[in-house]
Amino acid sequence: MNKQNIQLDQDGGLRHFLTIEGLNRALLTDILDTAESFTSITEQTIKKVPLLRGKTIVNLFFEASTRTRTTFELAAKRLSADVLNIDASISAATKGETLLDTLNNLEAMHCDMFVIRHPNSGAAHFIAQHAAPHVSIINAGDGSHAHPTQAMLDMFTIRRHKGEFHNLCVAIVGDIMHSRVARSQIHALSTLGVKEIRAIAPRTLIPAEAETLGVHIYNDLREGLRDVDVVIMLRLQYERMRGASLPSEHEYYQLFGLTEDKLSLACPDVIIMHPGPINRGVEIESAVADGPRSVILQQVAHGTAVRMAIMSRAMRHKIVVAGGESS
Ligand code: CP
Repeated sequence: MNKQNIQLDQDGGLRHFLTIEGLNRALLTDILDTAESFTSITEQTIKKVPLLRGKTIVNLFFEASTRTRTTFELAAKRLSADVLNIDASISAATKGETLLDTLNNLEAMHCDMFVIRHPNSGAAHFIAQHAAPHVSIINAGDGSHAHPTQAMLDMFTIRRHKGEFHNLCVAIVGDIMHSRVARSQIHALSTLGVKEIRAIAPRTLIPAEAETLGVHIYNDLREGLRDVDVVIMLRLQYERMRGASLPSEHEYYQLFGLTEDKLSLACPDVIIMHPGPINRGVEIESAVADGPRSVILQQVAHGTAVRMAIMSRAMRHKIVVAGGESS
């Protein structure tokens, strides 16, 4: 399957947002610029624009979420769309309805966009392949495959703090093997042209494909942190591990937990990021997570504007303009 074709319209515009792979730098930069223009809306008295008025967006979550689901809902409401939140644990999926039948039923209600989180890699692609022509699909995280909107809000946060991407050295630390966020971040950082991407983890938590993606691998945290501009921490994703990947959490924290002491090896103006949820005392010390170099809560705040940008770009062919709908 050509992932690029399914995500893009004939004119190269965004239709679905499933993965960063296959999207070019101009499109990613356009999303970041659009998100920048949406940030001011959150500071207005009336935090709404009418861009998606009359459209219906469905949040379809088959996995737990705090940040992603709520910021998608907030983003849709700020674009004036109607929003349906479907908790799969109390939907007809529990009675044996297939994913495709769930989609077909919601399409029959004239919904325009589905935001999907699913434990299986490829679920969002599968839905996009079967969606009606007027429907857009946004991947809110599928298995260990991709979490592209998280990667975009992370790129937005990096750009806000560091400006240009090309001089940056970015380290991703922790359970890269099971992380959909890390895969999407690596594609985004690489497309946006960062100087160096480092993957820092025990050997058992580095995926085989990391080197082919142009990532420099470190199995020693102190060595890997030297002179980095950005550190992205990841939690241990036990829900996707098969068998034990680590001797113990205690040993992991001793070797790979981010502490103030280890962080002193990075650039003085380093920023600390984490997609959340954070596990204090497992991958990160509280003093670092809550310290002056942490931008973890800024990432969450940026999620709304970035998701507004992605949703409005994917629906641009159906956006209401004065006098009717745009082409
Ligand atoms: N970063 C992230 O995906 O968090 P949630 O699981 O809370 O949505």
